[in-house]
Amino acid sequence: MKEILFNEKQIDEIITKLASKINKDYENCEDIPVLICVLKGAAPFMHDLIKKLNFPMKLDYIQLSSYNGTSSTGVIHLKKDVSENITNKRVIIVEDIIDTGTTLNYLKDYLNIKYKPKEIKLCCLIDKIPARKVKLDADYVGYYLNESKFLVGYGFDYNELFREVPYIFVPDNEDLNKWDELLKKNN
Ligand code: IMP
Ligand code: MG
Repeated sequence: MKEILFNEKQIDEIITKLASKINKDYENCEDIPVLICVLKGAAPFMHDLIKKLNFPMKLDYIQLSSYNGTSSTGVIHLKKDVSENITNKRVIIVEDIIDTGTTLNYLKDYLNIKYKPKEIKLCCLIDKIPARKVKLDADYVGYYLNESKFLVGYGFDYNELFREVPYIFVPDNEDLNKWDELLKKNN
């Protein structure tokens, strides 16, 4: 039986809390921050989050990949760069989940070196603490997960599948076998 980790209501509650923290920090900020969504996983999260933020902002998107199946490959590819000017701007990176930390660590260094923003803050829906391989602390975390579970739904994918599911669940081996079959047939 698959385990539902967060249903839609629970996800909404997590995002509401997170948004109120971010609103407090930015309500008197004279700069316009640029929120950068890390595609594709963080898209549902960012689009729900911004509806609860109440300061002027710009949105941008960047795409990286490091995952294959249920584990991180550790090798990062930049698939799509930002399009807004972020030099000397305040940036908030919006990510779905921090696992080993490799992706966000790479992204922070990449943006700092190439564009020299004024500030980079990290915001993630879930922080998988036990999986961390590089030191990285997010500024805004929706939920600290103390187990190294592989999650699917609400942006989290299994080989690109199930990002559209509105809740977050932990697949079992039966699910994984079924999905591998489906993927094989649709190859
Ligand atoms: P990291 O570089 O190991 O921190 O991995 C971060 C990226 O791996 C995230 O942007 C996610 O896209 C992906 N990822 C990490 N954990 C999971 C998971 O449990 N399910 C699906 N994707 C995940
Ligand atoms: Mg991601």
